Amino acid sequence: MQNVGEIDLPEGIGTISNPVCGDITEIYLRIKDGIIQDAKFKSYGCAVTIASASVFTEKIKGKEISGLISGRDEEVVSRLVGLIETELGMLPAEKLHCPPATVQAFFEAICQYNEKAGETQPVSRLKKLIPLVADYYKRGKRDEDDATGT
Ligand code: FES
Repeated sequence: MQNVGEIDLPEGIGTISNPVCGDITEIYLRIKDGIIQDAKFKSYGCAVTIASASVFTEKIKGKEISGLISGRDEEVVSRLVGLIETELGMLPAEKLHCPPATVQAFFEAICQYNEKAGETQPVSRLKKLIPLVADYYKRGKRDEDDATGT
């Protein structure tokens, strides 16, 4: 498992309690000139949540924030969740709610970073992206409902 731990005095921290099961993910970011220099996480959750945060923090290191959140809102969320899911492979329906928590924690962390820097435009963008993650938490539920005909 890579990137487990905290960063001292990080530029951004995002903490999420997964709305489906309550598992907690915390992302810590070291950011310089808009580039993610380092990313770490702590998780109090299932193996998929831990693997999601590990994969994601590894993939975003060295990336520009502006590039990570560029594109149409839905595209950005789908691309970031996809960064995790392409690595983890096929997940069972009951685990589909795990990866999006990492993406939401990431959005919260860069939101905090921008708030501290007084950057209002990216903050309002991020506040639009965060609710879109909600759909991803429901995916497993929808699959289960389809299977039971509810
Ligand atoms: Fe809820 Fe994985 S985050 S079981």
